[in-house]
Amino acid sequence: MTRLIGLSGSLRQASFNTALLKAAAQVAPESCHIEVHTIHGIPLYDADLEEHEGIPPAVAQLKDAIAAADGLLLATPEYNNSVPGVFKNAIDWLSRPAGDIARVFGAKPVAIMGTSPGNFGTLLSQNAWLPVLRTLGTAPWFGGRLIVPHAASLFDANGELIDAAARTRLQTFVAGFCRHVAGLHSA
Ligand code: FNR
Repeated sequence: MTRLIGLSGSLRQASFNTALLKAAAQVAPESCHIEVHTIHGIPLYDADLEEHEGIPPAVAQLKDAIAAADGLLLATPEYNNSVPGVFKNAIDWLSRPAGDIARVFGAKPVAIMGTSPGNFGTLLSQNAWLPVLRTLGTAPWFGGRLIVPHAASLFDANGELIDAAARTRLQTFVAGFCRHVAGLHSA
C-alpha cells in the first residue's frame, strides 16, 4: 500500500481545495491511500513562541505524519497570483527546527494540485511553491499537472466533485503520482 498525506492549504469550511483533496482520496487507486489533512490548529509562526513553548502539537503531529508517509500531495489555493500566506505559514512551521527538515521533507515525493473559481486554476501559485519545495529538499513530481479552473461550477453544495471531466483528470493525476511513488519503493 502506498500511503500519501494530502494537505489542503485552505482554512475555509467550504474550501474548493479541501474538496478537491477529498475527491482525490475517493478516486485514488485501491493500492494508494490518501490521508486528508488541513492546516487547522497551526498558529502564526513566531520564533519567540517556538523558543519558549517549542513546536505546537498540531505542527509536531503533522510533521510526524509527513515523515511516515511515502509522499505528500498539496492542494493549494492561489492568492494574489502566489501561495496563500496561511499555507506558507504552515509549511514554515513544518520546517522547524531546521535540523528536522531532512526527516520530514528530505527526498519526499511531492505533487501539487489546486483549484480556483478563476480562469487559471492556481497555475501561478503552483509555480510559486517550487522554490520552497526545492529549499526543503523535496523531490517534486512533474509527471502530471492538475490545474482546475472554474471551481464554482464543478462542486455541489456538499463539496462533491460532480464534474465528470474534472474527476477524470483528477483520477489520472492521482494515479500517476501514486504509480510514481510506488515505483520508488519497488526500485
Ligand atoms: C483570491 N482568489 C484568487 N484566485 C485566483 O485564481 N488567483 C488569485 O490570484 C486569487 N487571489 C485571491 C486573493 C485573496 C486574498 C483571496 C481571499 C482570494 C480567489 C480564490 O481562488 C478563492 O477564494 C478560492 O475559493 C480559495 O480557495 P478555497 O478556500 O476555496 O480552497
